[in-house]
Parts: sequence; structure tokens; C-alpha cells
Amino acid sequence: MPIPIYTTVPEIRLACAGKKLALVPTMGALHEGHAALIRAAAEAAEFAVVSIFVNPTQFGPKEDFAKYPRTLESDRAISAEAGAHAIFAPNAEEMYPAGTVAFVEVPGLDGVLCGPRRPGHFRGVCTVVLKLFNIVQPEVAIFGAKDAQQSIILKKMAKDLNVPVRMQIEPTVREADGLAMSSRNRYLTAEDRAQAPKIYRALRTIQTRVNHGETDAARLESALQAELAAIPGARLDYAEIRDAETLESVGRLDCPALAAVAVFLGTTRLIDNAMLG
Ligand code: PAJ
Repeated sequence: MPIPIYTTVPEIRLACAGKKLALVPTMGALHEGHAALIRAAAEAAEFAVVSIFVNPTQFGPKEDFAKYPRTLESDRAISAEAGAHAIFAPNAEEMYPAGTVAFVEVPGLDGVLCGPRRPGHFRGVCTVVLKLFNIVQPEVAIFGAKDAQQSIILKKMAKDLNVPVRMQIEPTVREADGLAMSSRNRYLTAEDRAQAPKIYRALRTIQTRVNHGETDAARLESALQAELAAIPGARLDYAEIRDAETLESVGRLDCPALAAVAVFLGTTRLIDNAMLG
């Protein structure tokens, strides 16, 4: 059964009115990682909504906004198959009518990792997600651990602004060879695709070192950076170990820590992460 696609704010509001619902915000080009979030949404609430919006405000001027894959019909099939009840797929004018100026920022948490490398990115993410929360008014919102910094920032935004939503984070879904699923994986050349699983392998290497008792974050970070830099065709953007909640840097691994990496393979920037300890 095809599920409805609503494109305007009044339509989706009407469809959601009075329902206890779960929202999965996405930019479309859905894959098995998104499908897992949608299944979790369908389990968490009686009505599961998937939003599909390639959000212009979170892309930098040199980023891939124009060529970001747009695959609405297949997204609709994947959403329905995973148990969604409705899709909200507005256009840019619907989300940002002329004259829109308000925005949301979470300073500090957006000053590390991807933040400084993608100026304005998290401000765009927070703004669109808060707008989606206000439009759909979900009880639960589901996000992926794949975008760890995004999930941490959005949780902090919801907490600081008293947004009445429960934030649920689901584990990263990977290809059989370990590569984290991403809409951007389709940009990889065959050679780069063959190298890409080594990103997760490097994260696993340091996880193993931690499990064997290594607690010096600086040593682990250098080992991680060296292993990533050795991947043929790869250019390291960052590889850092940080407190999994505050994203502050850590000396010793005596708190839950996050190893977060960003690597360019060709022109494609891939991110991944792993919890340590
Ligand atoms: P998008 O990249 O489409 O991702 C939508 C959601 O799917 C995010 O919560 C992301 O963490 C999750 N996701 C992506 N790949 C995953 C994987 N392999 N395993 C598990 N979850 C995965 O993230 C965005 O869109 C946007 O920034 C958005 C939050 C929609 C705001 O525009």
C-alpha cells in the first residue's frame, strides 16, 4: 500500500493531529540505515512519520547540495516497507518562506569535530529539526548513532529549549564489510569503495586496544590517525577521541568516550565513529 506524501505544513499538521507519533527526520536517498530508524519509529508509536527534506541551510557553498541524491519514489517504498504511515516531503519554500530569519544554535558542541570544518552546518541541522518538531509535534524522534555529533547536539538543543520530545538514538547500520551505510557511499569510485571499509577497521583496532587496557587517549588518537592516513587514496580530515556526552577532549579514558573520524576518499567525505570502553 503506498503511503501518503504530504508536501505542505497544513497538510502534515492535519494528518498528525491528535496522534501519538514518532518522527524520523531524513534527507531521503533512504537506505537500510534509515529503514532501521523507521522500524524503531513504528515500534515506538502508533503513527510513524518520515520527513524527507534536503535541507539547504546545512550545506556549505562548496558542498553537495545540488547533487545530493533525490529518490522520492524509492524512499516511499522503503518507508512503507519499514512501517511508516506518512511522509512529509516539503520543498524549500515551504520550509523557508521568503523572509525567514530565525535560527537555532548550540555553541560549544558545534565548535569541534565537524563543526569548524562545516561552518553553519549544525546551525542548519538544529534549525530544520526544531522546525520539524514544531510542525509534526512527535512524542519520539529517532536519530542514528552514525552521526554521533549531530545526535549529541540535537539532544542538547531539545533539553535546553524544553522541547517535549523523547530523543531515541539507534545503532549504526553497516554493510557486510563494515562500511557505515550512507547516502554518500554511492559517490565512491570502485577503488575508493574497496578501501572504505578500512575506516571502520581502524576504529575497531583502537577499540581492541582499549579493551586490552590502553587508556591514553593521545596514544590511541595517533594510532587511529596513522592507520587512517595509511589507507590508499584517503585524506584524513580528523580523527579524535572525545567525551561521549560533552565532546570535550579527554586525557585518560575514564569516561564513556567516542572515537570520531572524517576521511575524504576522492571528493567524498565519509564520517564514522565508535564508542570506547
Ligand atoms: P540523513 O543523512 O538522511 O540521516 C537521517 C538519519 O539517519 C540521521 O539520524 C542519521 O544519523 C541516520 N543514519 C544515516 N545513516 C545511518 C546508518 N548507517 N545507520 C543508522 N542510522 C543512520 O542526518 C540527516 O539526514 C540530516 O542532518 C537531518 C537530521 C535530517 C536534518 O536535515
